[in-house]
Amino acid sequence: MGAKSIAVLTSGGDAPGMNAAVRAVVRTGLYLGMRVIGIKRGYNGLLSGDTVEMNLRSVSDIIHRGGTVIYTARSPEFNTPEGVKKAADMCHKLDISGVVVIGGDGSFRGARDLTGAGIPCIGIPGTIDNDIASSEYTVGFDTAMNTVVEMVDRLRDTTESHDRCSVVEVMGRRCGELALQSGIAVGATSILVPEVPFDFQRDIVDRMKFTQKAGKRHFIIVVAEGVGGVEELGKRIKNETGIETRVTILGHVQRGGSPTLRDRLVASEMGYRAAKLLYEGNSNRVVVMQNGKIIDLDITEALNKKREFNMELYKIAHVISI
Ligand code: F6P
Repeated sequence: MGAKSIAVLTSGGDAPGMNAAVRAVVRTGLYLGMRVIGIKRGYNGLLSGDTVEMNLRSVSDIIHRGGTVIYTARSPEFNTPEGVKKAADMCHKLDISGVVVIGGDGSFRGARDLTGAGIPCIGIPGTIDNDIASSEYTVGFDTAMNTVVEMVDRLRDTTESHDRCSVVEVMGRRCGELALQSGIAVGATSILVPEVPFDFQRDIVDRMKFTQKAGKRHFIIVVAEGVGGVEELGKRIKNETGIETRVTILGHVQRGGSPTLRDRLVASEMGYRAAKLLYEGNSNRVVVMQNGKIIDLDITEALNKKREFNMELYKIAHVISI
């Protein structure tokens, strides 16, 4: 049989639904007769031994809460061979025989390294970016998209009232998924993502002028964070088109809030599977969604996959958002 005593941690940027995943890991672990420990502040808590014993009630009233009740962090110290060894030693000391890591690619690299140091780990994708190649979905993405849509709908009201253009920056340093999907949902005239180079004249000015001729008087331009230069872009749009332009950076508001049904459900399913995998003696696996189903893959293989940008959807946006 596998682990008798498991731990759970959240690492990297927080995402709505992480709590639902923690809850599922804890409840499943206890159901299977394992001891479950919460590690605070990601890998940092593993280095310092900052942990908490979990029981059924430790995860009450958290399924609807954003953020992560066991806190999160990025840990430069853990990202060294000495750090990994120190963390593995702490696992032995605390009698932890398996760890569920909820986070993004960086967190999975940590899970792979910790597995290499003898502590079986299972990853669960949790990030609002939806940027994990091996999984078509990451916990937090749906909530973040809905937050963006709500915020941009509000912006649209004032943009329309003033016949203006709103340039909206949404999160996504290396990934334009959030910008693309929410951009379509808010009817953005142009969507800029880091994966596709853009031409200012063709992709913004010409599109705005074309729609203006067709009677449009206000414009929403959604830009992924990774494209950069939104303030400058706003000025250029004003200079080139004469249309009064305002820039809004949505920022970390996108990371908070009560998780949607989808995030709660996916997180619950993934958390259940992760705890069960450890119980059954598996290690170095990541729980992912493929073709709408929750499955698990080898972490190292998953990390080697290259993410493909949804060009199809990008083209659809180009056709209909005009
Ligand atoms: O959670 C992912 C993400 O939101 C990215 O889109 C963003 O660039 C980054 O995290 C910012 O995170 P932080 O401010 O915590 O460093």
